[in-house]
Amino acid sequence: MSGKIFLVGFGPGAEEHMSFRAKSAIAESDVVIGYTTYIKLVKDLLDGKEVVRKGMTEEIDRCIEAYEQAKLGKKVSLISSGDIGVYGMAGPTYEVLLKAGWTPDNEITVEIIPGSTALSACASLVGAPLTHDFCSISLSDLLTPWPTIARRLEAVALSDFVVALYNPKSGRRTQQIVQAQNILLKHRDPATPVAIVKSAYRRRQAIQLVRLDEMADQEIGMLTTVLIGNSTTYIDQGLMITPRGYANKYDNLTGEAKAGEQAGRSLSMGLEGWKSCLREYLKQHPELTWEKAADYFSVPVGQVLSALAQAPEENALAHQAAIVDFDDLQKALDSSKKWGRLRGVVRTDSGAVVELFLHGEDFKQKTDWLSIENDAFHLHINWNKVNCAYFACRKDKSYGLHFIDKHDNLVFRLLLTKQEGIFNPTLLETFQNNWQDLGKSEEIIND
Ligand SMILES: C[S@@+](CC[C@H](N)C(=O)[O-])C[C@H]1O[C@@H](n2cnc3c(N)ncnc32)[C@H](O)[C@@H]1O
Repeated sequence: MSGKIFLVGFGPGAEEHMSFRAKSAIAESDVVIGYTTYIKLVKDLLDGKEVVRKGMTEEIDRCIEAYEQAKLGKKVSLISSGDIGVYGMAGPTYEVLLKAGWTPDNEITVEIIPGSTALSACASLVGAPLTHDFCSISLSDLLTPWPTIARRLEAVALSDFVVALYNPKSGRRTQQIVQAQNILLKHRDPATPVAIVKSAYRRRQAIQLVRLDEMADQEIGMLTTVLIGNSTTYIDQGLMITPRGYANKYDNLTGEAKAGEQAGRSLSMGLEGWKSCLREYLKQHPELTWEKAADYFSVPVGQVLSALAQAPEENALAHQAAIVDFDDLQKALDSSKKWGRLRGVVRTDSGAVVELFLHGEDFKQKTDWLSIENDAFHLHINWNKVNCAYFACRKDKSYGLHFIDKHDNLVFRLLLTKQEGIFNPTLLETFQNNWQDLGKSEEIIND
């Protein structure tokens, strides 16, 4: 008889939340292996079975034990709470098997049985907090370096996901939740709703609904999952709700699509529409800088220039742009040597804006680096970072060339300078001729 390994996720804990297949797999098994607490949770299903209890730190032992038992021709259930593939034993088991030379066509078969993971179980107890984009982060630094966890928290906080924190705190790991709160508060409203759910669907189930700035002061333990809302999540009648987005499109009272929106079609701010919205916004606010528009739409500045370059025919706009292809970057840079005195602008991530007066003749290029050196300063730019450039203008305010990296962020810009309050007409004409020779309109992507 050939052996079989069932990797069983039995859900949050209560038997009625266990799937039919999870129960039948355990019933079919000769051996059930699990962490002591998990074995207790399924004790009513274990009559007549060989039961192997292991401690929490003996995860790899559980996998090896399952493989050894299966090699003897037995059916083995390796059990885990929630979903066995979510911070569970599915990964380590496959790693052990593959390392031992096992392949999927081996006579020992493996079946994974999914279960309801903690974030779904906990969400169901507090309302509907996961009805929009969400992600999970484990705060356990037992196997993951803290800088990796912190970087993920930072990215998630910035991108406004609803977030589920697994393994938020233990007897020894008490400060991770404090650090997580600090990182999230850098980008999120302190009043953001947070649900703290302990022992969902188990005997000691407990639920707290609090604000983000109160989160780390609450009772949180090993069996707690923390659900943190996004900027639209609210609490009403004791329920935590993250809207699905219907209010963006439909009138709440009549149910009719709002002006500019169509049922069954992408929002006016969808993939194809948002750039027209941005151009319309700039048309209404001709005084705005591209950085301000980028902040307003939460996009990098390169995407603002790209939106302008896609509609060159809208030349009534105060704002205009044309893209320079990668192959013409050098020519575009060289053309700036004919524009007289220039303003070089570099912006740092931390908010500093450096403006330097220079001439195109100051440029020196050494393989990867563009160096601008004169008596007053040395500026060194990694030319490899530049992916494209835009000729762009805000009428009568700014004319120049903007070098952009592959993430659509500004690397640096070169702007014409005014003399006695006006742009020199000859230099401006040279600039516009260079724009016409090298600048192209970006194609609008239609599907
Ligand atoms: C190692 S992870 C295992 C996750 C599990 N495989 C799942 O899919 O839910 C352990 C963490 O899951 C969460 N968790 C598991 N069961 C839970 C429950 N019944 N109530 C609340 N959180 C739970 C807690 O955050 C706990 O620290």
